[in-house]
Amino acid sequence: IVTPILIDLQKSCATPLPVLRHVADAMTDDMRAGLVCDGGSDLKMILSYVNSLPTGNENGLVYALDLGGTNFRVIRVQLGGKDERVVDTEFDQVAIPQELMYRTSEELFDFIASGLAKFAEKESGKFSLSPGRKREIGFTFSFPVKQTSIDSGILIKWTKGFAVSGTPGNCVVACLNEAMERQGLDMRVSALVNDTVATLAGARYWDDDVMVAVILGTGTNACYVERTDVIPKMHGHTSSGNTIINTEWGAFSNGLPLTEFDRDMDAASINPGEQIFEKTISGMYLGEIVRRVLLKMAEVDALFGGFVPEKLSTPFALMTPDVCSMQQDITSDLGVVGSILNNIFEVKSSIRARKTVVEVCDTIVKRGGRLAGAGIVGILQKMEQDSEGLIFGKRTVVAMDGGLYEHYPQYRKYLQDAVTELLGSDISKNVIIDHSKDGSGIGAALLAASNSKYA
Ligand code: BG6
Ligand code: GLC
Repeated sequence: IVTPILIDLQKSCATPLPVLRHVADAMTDDMRAGLVCDGGSDLKMILSYVNSLPTGNENGLVYALDLGGTNFRVIRVQLGGKDERVVDTEFDQVAIPQELMYRTSEELFDFIASGLAKFAEKESGKFSLSPGRKREIGFTFSFPVKQTSIDSGILIKWTKGFAVSGTPGNCVVACLNEAMERQGLDMRVSALVNDTVATLAGARYWDDDVMVAVILGTGTNACYVERTDVIPKMHGHTSSGNTIINTEWGAFSNGLPLTEFDRDMDAASINPGEQIFEKTISGMYLGEIVRRVLLKMAEVDALFGGFVPEKLSTPFALMTPDVCSMQQDITSDLGVVGSILNNIFEVKSSIRARKTVVEVCDTIVKRGGRLAGAGIVGILQKMEQDSEGLIFGKRTVVAMDGGLYEHYPQYRKYLQDAVTELLGSDISKNVIIDHSKDGSGIGAALLAASNSKYA
């Protein structure tokens, strides 16, 4: 059924080339403004203190901790230098218990430290630490942190639905150290990094052309390799090296095609007015936007024959993986869509209603994927402007990770389409957008090794 709400939705979510171009240009401008001074733009453009990327010479036993938006992982890696590279790696992964997202900092960090302690106990003989050293950790902390050095930084604020009390304003490494002490664990954090930075480092280990890393998962963010001499806020730093900038692009908001559903979702969120790009394109929110549209369609357009299922009013009842499964349904009666709607919302649906639901999913996912693509072009064109041909004139790789990118084929296609439309087919042939699965684990371990106190 082509309902008036669907027509309106498609109109307000449309991302024709001029809209994409505006978003890409605004991203470039905001990046520049954020490099001038802190607070200069929506984009924080955080200095990562990662001034050298993995070389392949990294050596020894290192651990990595990875606190993402959904999962917590502990990893150990035995690095063998240039010839052997990654000799061995092991990891454990658990979902972050929902309740810990609303409790105290001590409880969250105790959970992390006790996971690490249990994992460290199981270290087998194939891993070996040089005598006289402590085990060192690369800590991937996937939230906005104002770095104060490579191994310390202050949490600016929580994102992605976290509301843990007591961490913002404090050093996350100090929080972890205190929790490790409570566990009786004697390990040392030698690198604190954002997940994008860890992904860039991990991907760069295998491919020298990786210049940008993007996470599209629960949340979204991007980092890239920047020249220190074009970063005014590094005043005085005159060396001509490179560093990685964590853009925190989730906070971008300029010129996005938004709808009443986005505005209502934002107003009802725990961080209204913040992370607008993230709320438009990332995995935590796409399902929720679709749910809000379906609720209005049920109420106003009688999508389900005038019946408005009660569960359709439950925030976050529909998750992005459900939206994705519905979009993969190729059965003639859209039976998968029907059963997902029935399981989640307890509603029977006609085939026409199911078709409308799929259209809604596609509209929201298409907007998300295309805007993510425009964001990537915004970063690449900023780098190109400052480097004359060194980005578009040669092979340049964008390392991608996160559950949304990994599991949603249509999203990936919409993203790639937008990049190709914006850059044109000649240039876009040089830009390789590539999945770098779990590169962040190895990436954080490599950065821990290269910043080792013993190196
Ligand atoms: C993972 C990284 O590969 O991708 C995490 O190791 C990161 O640090 C994540 O946060 C994104 O995950 P998700 O669960 O948000 O898709
Ligand atoms: C959120 C966090 C950011 C992280 C991203 C992807 O936007 O603020 O630091 O990189 O999610 O996990």
